[in-house]
Amino acid sequence: MRETEQRATRAYMENFGEEPDLVASAPGRVNLIGEHTDYNGGFVLPCAIDRRIAVAAGTGDGELYSADFDETRSIGEKDSSWADYPRGVAWAIGEAGHGIGVFRAAFAGDVPLGSGLSSSAAIEAATALAIDALYGLGIGRTDLAVLCQRAENEFVGVNSGIMDQYASLLCEAGAALLVDCRSLEAQSVPLDLEDAGLSLIVCDTRVERGLADTGYNDRRAACEHAASTLGVKELREATEEDLHRLYGEELKRARHVVSENARVMEAVEALKDADFDEFGRLMYASHVSLRDDYEVSTPELDAFVEIAEEHGARGARLTGAGFGGCAIALVPEGETADLTKACERAFAGRGFEEPAFYEFVPAAGAELAR
Ligand code: GLA
Repeated sequence: MRETEQRATRAYMENFGEEPDLVASAPGRVNLIGEHTDYNGGFVLPCAIDRRIAVAAGTGDGELYSADFDETRSIGEKDSSWADYPRGVAWAIGEAGHGIGVFRAAFAGDVPLGSGLSSSAAIEAATALAIDALYGLGIGRTDLAVLCQRAENEFVGVNSGIMDQYASLLCEAGAALLVDCRSLEAQSVPLDLEDAGLSLIVCDTRVERGLADTGYNDRRAACEHAASTLGVKELREATEEDLHRLYGEELKRARHVVSENARVMEAVEALKDADFDEFGRLMYASHVSLRDDYEVSTPELDAFVEIAEEHGARGARLTGAGFGGCAIALVPEGETADLTKACERAFAGRGFEEPAFYEFVPAAGAELAR
């Protein structure tokens, strides 16, 4: 068992005085390319990270315990705490017509919280897999992901797309996951960074995503307007030629989405050829598009991408929603320390928050540990 899974198991035993019936865990994610495309029916290419949230679960009295917050909540009422995620998942599974009884659970994790690495999808996915196994529901992974998204949208009240839940439930170790967010089909694309001599570095700019939710919803609304101006259901259906019929904000937002979808497909081809020069070029182009057309970058994210490029990163870009949060870079092994040091110096010099750095390997999606 992984360390997080052991911690969840111990927390369960200490709190509830017996062994859990089962233990499940699910990872956070970074998105390699395909940003702000999921809610437009487009393509995304995330990979799971080797940071997880584990849940030890059993039938019981509806108590939820978090080892990380050291607090107990009841499955009952929504209260805007971490417990809304497992509550929401139980609610969504019930809404889908599956009969589940009252359970209890203990959680422990090491996904950085509030950084844009999808700790919320991780706790949702772990809970969903645990409930599915506990009650023998036999719900498939893709359906569980859709139920987790429903929990996030309708119960927690965050209007996110399907990417994070798909990544957490369906990614495989050593691979990225290409998701067609219109058909909801997904396929693994091998991502052997070690073989390519590359490290996946994540820079957490530690910028609070204060206005993120309004910004995110504004971007969604602009995309919906652009789609309706063009007479298509979703921007996924728009082409480069269509862009001539848009102007102003709608043009910029749509141009990002149309070009980003094309970049994802090119990036998948590049990965299949293990062509990381091309893959990296597409990452930089994605960042420029997010910065100039989608306007979701920040000075910190731009600074990291610039410094990464100066230090020989094959590619770098903001990852996730933007407005703060994290950026990623593919850096030749052995050169990561130079980059992180240069970045720390530059951030201090510009009066930015001190960034945090992580190095991740493409990890496995949600799993039952016992
Ligand atoms: C957040 C959302 C995802 C996706 C990204 C942007 O991470 O949760 O659904 O929309 O932003 O690509």
